[in-house]
Amino acid sequence: MRACLLEKYREFLPLTPETPIITLGEADTPLVRSLRLEKELGIGELYFKLEGCNPTGSFKDRGMVVAVAKALEAGSRALICASTGNTSASAAAYGAHCGLKVFVIVPGGYIALGKLSQAITFGAEVLSIDGNFDKALGMVRALIQKHPITLVNSLNLHRIEGQKTAAFEIIDTLGDAPDYLFIPVGNAGNITAYWRGFVQYQKASKRPRMMGFQAEGAAPIVRGGVVAEPKTIATAIRIGNPASWQGALAARDESSGVIDCVSDEEILTAYKLLASEEGIFGEPASAASLAGVIKMIKGELKLSTARVVCVITGTGLKDPDTALKSAPTLAEFPAQLEAVEEVIVSKL
Ligand code: F0G
Repeated sequence: MRACLLEKYREFLPLTPETPIITLGEADTPLVRSLRLEKELGIGELYFKLEGCNPTGSFKDRGMVVAVAKALEAGSRALICASTGNTSASAAAYGAHCGLKVFVIVPGGYIALGKLSQAITFGAEVLSIDGNFDKALGMVRALIQKHPITLVNSLNLHRIEGQKTAAFEIIDTLGDAPDYLFIPVGNAGNITAYWRGFVQYQKASKRPRMMGFQAEGAAPIVRGGVVAEPKTIATAIRIGNPASWQGALAARDESSGVIDCVSDEEILTAYKLLASEEGIFGEPASAASLAGVIKMIKGELKLSTARVVCVITGTGLKDPDTALKSAPTLAEFPAQLEAVEEVIVSKL
């Protein structure tokens, strides 16, 4: 059995001898070298870090396993989070695994189907509100002041500690840090975590430039102000007032990086390219990283000798609606060999 995250990176995590070691098989995700886009885009080396291969299908599991282990250590009986979907799926899974009560507050109508199915099936109390993620997070902050419930949003610093291990894995796999790390930005916990990981891990000779991408209609960090009504097809990053805003700015400034935004159209183009050119099905928010690469290259950023990593934060299976919305409706064929064969031959 492979070492779990809590054991493998114990020396870098806030664990004590009393912290229970729990795992659902998180971390140790693949870093896949691009076969086609690397050449088409003219990049030295391009890799995709497939965080959708975590047990609940997103990077959230890395941080959740630490946050939940620490909650158990502290004797907590209940967890709570606000979520655009993935955090709630992860909290619900680890809560179920450990016998904890889980409450999740989600923006009604803006949760991808797969994520909602997970939270419900894992047995969480799902409270869908008539408001966005930022409203939900405000409620959660107020509730934990009054009730003995552990907050497991990335405001819980144990989450960031767990998530930084993805940077360690990239360095271990490549033998050094890449030149650039492209990553989607929503509540900004993950870019904060990766930067912490790159700074802390002594096995690298350099640090990457951190390239964070928000969705154009939900880009408070780019605009320099809260967005009251964030809008984007990438519901995971539909956030107008990120909790780790300062962490994202620090990552950008300390790494000579960039925080920019990409349009929904650019996100969808990258989403389809990633699937059709590389065989990687990421959810729309995840494609913001590749959309960022394409935008930067168009903007004359020279990557022809660079080693670039794109973080694919969650699996495309989370959001089947988006996949099918942009697909043509399937034609129905008679169950006759000739009819099917005729089509195949015409497309060979
Ligand atoms: N990609 C995916 C698939 C996400 O679910 C999220 C955030 C992000 C990127 C952005 O990461 O917030 O650390 O900047 N999802 C949160 C949630 C907000 O509730 O699941 P971030």
